[in-house]
Amino acid sequence: MQKKEELYSGKAKSVFATDNDDFVVLSFRDDTSAFDGEKVELLSRKGMVNNKFNAFIMNYLAENGIPTHFEELLNDTESLVKNMQMMPVECVVRNVASGSLVRRLGVEDGMTLSPPIFELFLKNDALHDPMINEYHIETFGWAKAADITEMKALTFKVNSLLQKLFAEAGMILVDYKLEFGLFKGKVYLGDEFSPDGCRLWDAETRKKLDKDRFRQGLGGVIEAYEEVAHRIGVQL
Ligand code: CDP
Repeated sequence: MQKKEELYSGKAKSVFATDNDDFVVLSFRDDTSAFDGEKVELLSRKGMVNNKFNAFIMNYLAENGIPTHFEELLNDTESLVKNMQMMPVECVVRNVASGSLVRRLGVEDGMTLSPPIFELFLKNDALHDPMINEYHIETFGWAKAADITEMKALTFKVNSLLQKLFAEAGMILVDYKLEFGLFKGKVYLGDEFSPDGCRLWDAETRKKLDKDRFRQGLGGVIEAYEEVAHRIGVQL
C-alpha cells in the first residue's frame, strides 16, 4: 500500500489517498482544538496516543460485532481505514449529564441519566454543529432513514460495550460522539474514538480524564489520556 496525496485536513487529523481507492490513511496530528476551532494548541504525543487508543477501541468494537472502518495500524501516528462516504452527522450518547446538555437544559452536572440520552448534531463548524433530529437528516438528504436507524442502533450497542470496558478499568463513560459513513452501501463506524471525543471520569474521584482538561485549562491533558490508555491496556 502506497500513501499518496493529502485529500483533506481536519482539526486534528489529515486524510491521505492510497494506491487503492477503497482505502485511505488517517494521520493523527498533535493539534488540539476546542470551541469550534477557537482554542488551538499543539500537545506533544497526542497524535500517537489517540492513534493507538483508537486502534485498540476499534479492534475491541469489531471483535464485538460493530462494523468499523478501521483496517490496521500503520505506524505511531497513522492508520489505514476504509474510504467511506461520511454522513455529516454526529451521534452523541450521554450516560451522565455534562457539557452542552447542562448548558442547554440547566440540569445538574454529574446527574446520572437513566435511560441514557441520544442526540444528533449536524457536523458544521460554521453553524456551530446545531442539534438536529431524524427529520432534518432525512428531509435534507444527509442520510437515508434506514441508515439513521442503523447508526442509532450501533451507537447504543457501542455504549453497552464501552461502558463495560471503562467501568472495569475504574472509569465512567459520561458521554461520547460517534460518526458513521457508508462503504459499498453499508453503514460503518468511522472517525475515531479517543479521549478527544468523549468524557471519561475516574469512578472514585470523578477526576476528568478527557478533553475537558484542555477545554477548561486544567492541565495534564496528555498525561490523563495516557492514564486512560494504560488502564484499559493500550500499548503506547
Ligand atoms: O463538548 P461540548 O460541551 O461542547 O458538547 P457536548 O454536546 O456536551 O459533547 C458531548 C460529547 O461529544 C463530548 O464527549 C464531546 O467531547 C463530544 N463531541 C465531540 O467529540 N465533537 C463535537 N463536535 C461535539 C461533541
